[in-house]
Amino acid sequence: MITKDINKAKEELIRSKLVVIPTETVYGLAGNAFDEIAVKKIFDLKQRPYHNPLIVHIKSAKDLNRIARDIPPTAHKLAEMFWPGPLTLVLDKNSNIPDLVTSCKDTVAVRVPNHKLTLELLNLLDFPLAAPSANPFGSISPTCAEHVHGYFNDQLEIILDGGDCDKGIESTIIGFEGDLPVLYRHGSLAVEDIEKVVGPLITIIHDDVSPNAPGMLSRHYAPKTEIIVTNDVQASIDNNREKRVGVLIFKDRVQNSEIIHQEILSENGDFNEAASKLYNSMHLLDKLNLDLIIAEVFPDEGLGKTINDRLERATKKE
Ligand code: TXA
Ligand code: MG
Repeated sequence: MITKDINKAKEELIRSKLVVIPTETVYGLAGNAFDEIAVKKIFDLKQRPYHNPLIVHIKSAKDLNRIARDIPPTAHKLAEMFWPGPLTLVLDKNSNIPDLVTSCKDTVAVRVPNHKLTLELLNLLDFPLAAPSANPFGSISPTCAEHVHGYFNDQLEIILDGGDCDKGIESTIIGFEGDLPVLYRHGSLAVEDIEKVVGPLITIIHDDVSPNAPGMLSRHYAPKTEIIVTNDVQASIDNNREKRVGVLIFKDRVQNSEIIHQEILSENGDFNEAASKLYNSMHLLDKLNLDLIIAEVFPDEGLGKTINDRLERATKKE
């Protein structure tokens, strides 16, 4: 059921059931983070490998001490600056967090989401919510309640409807080596904005499938349709004349009548707008029965880096 009833959501969560929550980044598939029965349901429904740990969502930075310990000063600084918001911190975990949530790691990923409805729900609960993105493992993350319903139909009792996600791409993930911040995943908080607060980041991008193997890209955030990413969209169109082609471009419409559909992410060239539309555009293109999606490489700055990361991952074969 798609609803805004947070009291019903609370009842479900208390009974170890799952609820879909809206956040400013993407929709999450949430369960009580302290309850192993609920957490196991998350992995089962998503068909997610158990070695890929979950993010724990708390209502305020004041709850951090319930989840994590030995928190470095830089982490406090980032939390103060960017929470609630699209930043996840990976910290040494407290023993009350089940190993299932963290895939037996000594660390836990945690953030305060910036969405009114979900913050209201968290304020009704005396436990945090473990929540990955609410999509089957490997597919495009959902940015509206309808996307989630399309994936899971009636397998979920409650999908909380918080409208279209404001940011539309997952949170940026930062871990620590001592007090030094390390970038694990590009996301909807630009690296440059973080660096203004804490200085240069070390970059060790984690693979989603085996998060201990940095630097490898897994197929993820991927449409079912084949997708290629290129600097020269026109040349790719010319090379694929016999195919049913859709394009995903930043700002300038392509002059070509043979293309089945064009998704333009921001006619004004605004990275925020482009990021917020990216997944919805992928969802739309994926429904058109195309042979090929041709996506344009973004400028390598700000959220352009995050968009390029997601496009690149979408092209990887399983
Ligand atoms: O914006 C978001 O982050 C959304 C919303 C729902 O909050 N959530 C999300 O979750 O994107 P998910 O499960 O799709 O991605 C979580 C990422 C995974 O890549 C996982 O490897 C990483 O977080 N992660 C979780 N715990 C970790 C840990 N202890 N160390 C390193 N990476 C971790
Ligand atoms: Mg995900």
